[in-house]
Amino acid sequence: MPERIDVEGFGYWYDEKQGDAGDNWHRTLIDPGLFARIGTVRAGLRILDLGCGNGYVSRRLARAGALVVGVDQSLELIERASAHERAEPLGVEYIRADAADLRPLGERRFDLGVANMSLIDIEDGAGALRELGRVIRPGGRLVASLSHPCFDVDTRSQYEVDEVSGTSTVYRKIAGYRTPHSDRYLWRLSDGRTVRTVGYHRPLSWYLKELRKAGFVLLDVEEPAPEAGFVSDRIRADWVEQIPLHLILEARREPE
Ligand SMILES: C[S@@+](CC[C@H](N)C(=O)[O-])C[C@H]1O[C@@H](n2cnc3c(N)ncnc32)[C@H](O)[C@@H]1O
Repeated sequence: MPERIDVEGFGYWYDEKQGDAGDNWHRTLIDPGLFARIGTVRAGLRILDLGCGNGYVSRRLARAGALVVGVDQSLELIERASAHERAEPLGVEYIRADAADLRPLGERRFDLGVANMSLIDIEDGAGALRELGRVIRPGGRLVASLSHPCFDVDTRSQYEVDEVSGTSTVYRKIAGYRTPHSDRYLWRLSDGRTVRTVGYHRPLSWYLKELRKAGFVLLDVEEPAPEAGFVSDRIRADWVEQIPLHLILEARREPE
């Protein structure tokens, strides 16, 4: 996966970016809705954090008393997450694995699966959902945040603002909605190098159908609006307020 997140140094940069609480986008836009859907975390809740990155969400859940397993395909990110665990032992187990093959985790092991902005980066998204359906126990839940499939179609979407007589109207222009496809994202590392990673767009119906196939029933959705403190050099908070860039799905694993 040379073009993916394992480019040397990328994991270290991503770890710095996310830190222990997520970057500004996560803290003020995505995570409040994610944690609202996760709800109360009781001691001993068994949670899988799929595509855990540097593990900041795993750590937050473990500090609340959950028994967390973090899975990621990136060796560097699993190393960074494990370094956090050594520095602050919370009992989080980090495993390097492909989301589409979670056999090392057994079956029906988790009460809750969390996938924070990871399904959109996973090549075999259907395989990942199928595996989530296998490792989450019947009655357990999945909470997943995504780039909004209707409004944030990778490099093929953008805001447009019309200013007429002092009134501004915000539009979101998108192309390529219906067809699943991949696209490349450019990231600038702190040492000046640039790295491209790959993301995967799938239309909304794809997610709903694949969730159903994997044995899930949809419980709730969030389209998070930014909280105070949202900062972007490209996008204004009031635009995101009007047209959301993220979607959070909460689903329950149905009994067989
Ligand atoms: C946008 S990052 C999100 C990371 C973390 N959840 C967060 O919110 O900071 C997507 C993550 O998915 C992981 N990933 C991509 N493909 C994967 C796969 N096939 N199996 C497991 N993890 C994968 C990446 O390595 C990356 O850590």
